[in-house]
Amino acid sequence: GNKNIQAKLVLLGDMGTGKTSLVLRFVKGQFYEYQESTIGAAFFTQVLSLNEATIKFDIWDTAGQERYHSLAPMYYRGAAAAVVVYDITSMDSFERAKKWVRELQRQGNPNLVTVLVANKADLESKERCRMRAELIGEQYAKDNRLLFFETSAKSAQNVNELFYEIDHKNGEE
Ligand code: GTP
Repeated sequence: GNKNIQAKLVLLGDMGTGKTSLVLRFVKGQFYEYQESTIGAAFFTQVLSLNEATIKFDIWDTAGQERYHSLAPMYYRGAAAAVVVYDITSMDSFERAKKWVRELQRQGNPNLVTVLVANKADLESKERCRMRAELIGEQYAKDNRLLFFETSAKSAQNVNELFYEIDHKNGEE
């Protein structure tokens, strides 16, 4: 028979790393060069029919600006999965991502599936920095037993794969 699956997830990460853009790419297939910064948090849903199952994604897209940091626990406490996003051209955003991972390890739900995402993979002009950030991120994800994806909200690279993998992991529990 048909299965109904709910996937509750939260996106965390520094401002400007592309959290809203990843969600909009997934939910609406759209991308904006001038995406406005999120205030507080935004909620999105997406329903997909895959094989025998109907999957409802409930997605909290949090604001990356530091002044909203204290709101984050409200969103990650109810989540089954957390997507921690950094910008592959910004080491600062990677440092911020590591802080989020540590906070989730300390204060998140113990079964939380955490995914580290290196976004803006399309920015080839910054190749050197990109390659370095990518390798470091992948190693960090391995060491901390996180899932890892390199994505581009702009080109759509790996965006569906990211959300499908989260659904898959939730289904295992
Ligand atoms: P906050 O809401 O401030 O936390 O930011 P955010 O993480 O939601 O980032 P947002 O999606 O608003 O994207 C910030 C900027 O990066 C926008 O100008 C986007 O167009 C751009 N951007 C997002 N994803 C990508 C990507 O994969 N590639 C490129 N080249 N630009 C991207």
